[in-house]
Amino acid sequence: MVSGGLTCRPTRRNEQGMTQQTTSSTRPLRVSRAQAPLSGSIRVPGDKSISHRALMFASLAKGTTHISGLLEGEDVLCTAAAMRALGADAVQEGPGQWRVSGPGVGQLKEPDNVLDMGNSGTAARLLSGILASHGMTSVMTGDASLRRRPMKRVMDPLAGTGATFLAREGGRLPMAIRGLADPKPLDYRLPVASAQVKSAVLLAGLNAVGETRVEEPVATRDHTENMLRHFGAEVSVEKTPDGGRIIRLQGRPNLVARDVAVPGDPSSAAFPLVAALLVAGSDITIFGVGLNPLRTGLFTTLQEMGAQLEILNARTEGGEPVGDLRVRASALKGVEVPPERAPSMIDEYPVLAVAAAYASGVSRFCGVEELRVKESDRLAATVALLENNGVRTAVEGNDMVVYGTAGHIPGGGKVETHMDHRLAMSASVMGLVAEKPVEIDDTSFIETSFPQYLDLMNSIGAGFVA
Ligand code: S3P
Repeated sequence: MVSGGLTCRPTRRNEQGMTQQTTSSTRPLRVSRAQAPLSGSIRVPGDKSISHRALMFASLAKGTTHISGLLEGEDVLCTAAAMRALGADAVQEGPGQWRVSGPGVGQLKEPDNVLDMGNSGTAARLLSGILASHGMTSVMTGDASLRRRPMKRVMDPLAGTGATFLAREGGRLPMAIRGLADPKPLDYRLPVASAQVKSAVLLAGLNAVGETRVEEPVATRDHTENMLRHFGAEVSVEKTPDGGRIIRLQGRPNLVARDVAVPGDPSSAAFPLVAALLVAGSDITIFGVGLNPLRTGLFTTLQEMGAQLEILNARTEGGEPVGDLRVRASALKGVEVPPERAPSMIDEYPVLAVAAAYASGVSRFCGVEELRVKESDRLAATVALLENNGVRTAVEGNDMVVYGTAGHIPGGGKVETHMDHRLAMSASVMGLVAEKPVEIDDTSFIETSFPQYLDLMNSIGAGFVA
């Protein structure tokens, strides 16, 4: 158990004995147009990607790591529970403050039971790299959303270590992994731009003798590389002429505990940020947001749309660039987002689609096919979010097109969120500016990445009535 009653979302067994998501906690929400501008200063929770990695690397290092600002959302708590099941000691000492010590690389113990990764693709895929490179057998599952998501993208490269995998049809969870104590180092070129796959390969490389090499066609978030260095591993990164990167890791490093300060999550900041841009007269500040350039595609895109978005007090905290964002309501115009920008804003397209729906003119998001394999089919679900609320959209090949309403989103629609936190938050932002209220089927999955979202939004005047 996590101390302080924090847990990974509970699952229950149905009549067939299968684990499934509990439905008793479904939380519908009806969002009406904001009555007044949003104003005030807030801080968003810790970065989800960095929080998962902090727990994993701290468990693989020798000594005790103190983490501050850890996101205590359900996804990250699943990672904490899994690392404990593998022999790490991960304890909450205060809000966002964790003490973690682990057995170290190659020393994790076989888990007694199935590892339940809840809703989290990042937890499942990164952990696969760790499990494949330890001499143990483990079984991993997740909630109904995660059990639909492709794991073949990590199984294929990780099989090169010598590990064996047994998964459901199409490479779906539950999955059994028989790992090796002496895995082979990998040399892999990613077929899709995915930081999760890159990270799984690098994590497997930690316990492999020799050099692990990963080549990515487009640069994706580099938190794994940064944290590997932070904990003492030797990692080199070479930029390729076509915008990709080659990452090399020397295996069996001596990882040593180092404290980690987790910055605010730019992907979570996206929701209050877009809300403040759209609700007339708003002026808010979001403190301590991570500004890693491989995460800030949304900010660039919104600025191109005409957003009054200023970065104040730019600084470095815990090895990551951080700043405060001042956001003022702005008249936005349509934008074309190039495909190579997608990895730096992959989680932000649903809320960007809401901004584009409210803007004047047409927007085109190019090369967004990866949205089809997120917590939901986010391409289809974002189209449905807009269309059901009277906004015209189109999917043309791998592009999404949004026809802006110049401030007149009709609303009045029902939104199905498909166990996807970011759809729920995007729908809530749409409700704040739509002419008729927006009905959201379930906001409970917001707990996976942004606990306190509704309260935080209410503190700047959103007026959500849960
Ligand atoms: C993440 C990578 C991205 C992103 C996810 C977090 C990570 O997924 O969508 O929310 O922490 O590495 P992909 O690697 O599938 O693009």
